[in-house]
Amino acid sequence: MSEKIIIDTDPGIDDAMAIFFAFQSPKFDVLGLTTVFGNVPVDMSANNALILCELAGKTDVPVTLGMSRPWFGRPSTYAHFVHGNDGFGDINHPPAKGKLDPRSSAQFIVDMVNQYPGEVSLVPIGPLTNIAAALRLDPTLPSKVKQVVLMGGTARAPGNVNPVAEANIWNDPYAAQIVFAAEWPLTMIGLDITDTLRFNQDFLDALEQGNSVLGGFVNKISQFYMDFYSQGQAQRECRFHDVITLAYILHPEWFEVEQCKVMVSTDELTRGQTVCCPKGKGISEPWTSGPYANVALKVDEDKVNQLYKTVYAL
Ligand code: RIB
Ligand code: CA
Repeated sequence: MSEKIIIDTDPGIDDAMAIFFAFQSPKFDVLGLTTVFGNVPVDMSANNALILCELAGKTDVPVTLGMSRPWFGRPSTYAHFVHGNDGFGDINHPPAKGKLDPRSSAQFIVDMVNQYPGEVSLVPIGPLTNIAAALRLDPTLPSKVKQVVLMGGTARAPGNVNPVAEANIWNDPYAAQIVFAAEWPLTMIGLDITDTLRFNQDFLDALEQGNSVLGGFVNKISQFYMDFYSQGQAQRECRFHDVITLAYILHPEWFEVEQCKVMVSTDELTRGQTVCCPKGKGISEPWTSGPYANVALKVDEDKVNQLYKTVYAL
């Protein structure tokens, strides 16, 4: 039976690679793409998500428009320096033809989880603003969601937007606090894993060889992204952060995880830091009580790398 998933996304180049992987895999039933600000403004996220559905022949998959800025504080400055002015490596792809689902991202999440209680996995791969909004719309959501597997945070690896914080959490730390405090099965796929998995031109060529349309698009948009990640580096390579959430859903046995209490800093200096205290190691509150998240620390890199290439070639 295929896994029902909702991908909450800010496409974004690594988001695109992840979304095509989900579309390609027969093991996923993508109920919808709910968009959020982050890499790019939310209206661009939504247009880019519609483009991905059109390229993959999945125009029946609903796409929704979500939150445009974090719960508190200044609007995002976005990550055009990483993903390009258009979010797709400045390849000037024509605008999407499709239309958005009229519901907000948060409302769509609530509707789908209530339509399929116990069956839906939420896969946030952008800031957690929509997920927190869905929790406020329906406080019973945690009891009806199968699991949350998010790309975000870091337990021990350095941050990628400041020394201690990862971009998705940093973009909306208050929303992240709400999400980590909810009583649901949550797995955090952070930089401890996603920053160690590196992908070069051979990998991109293999995706294109496997699927000239989807792999070819990922190859094309990733050139800008490779340039960013390769600045001052000996190797020309990049990181596909988001897709590893999907690899975890399919093969959790490939991962080493640790149960941790995760708290999120909202201080200006350490904004977005995910402080992870292993269960049983706390000596005072809030570290001696739950809820606890599964924090992914290691993965079998060869198996994951081969999985991406195999699924793109299906
Ligand atoms: O820190 C990496 C995360 O931030 C990824 O989800 C990437 O797409 C950006 O949203
Ligand atoms: Ca993302």
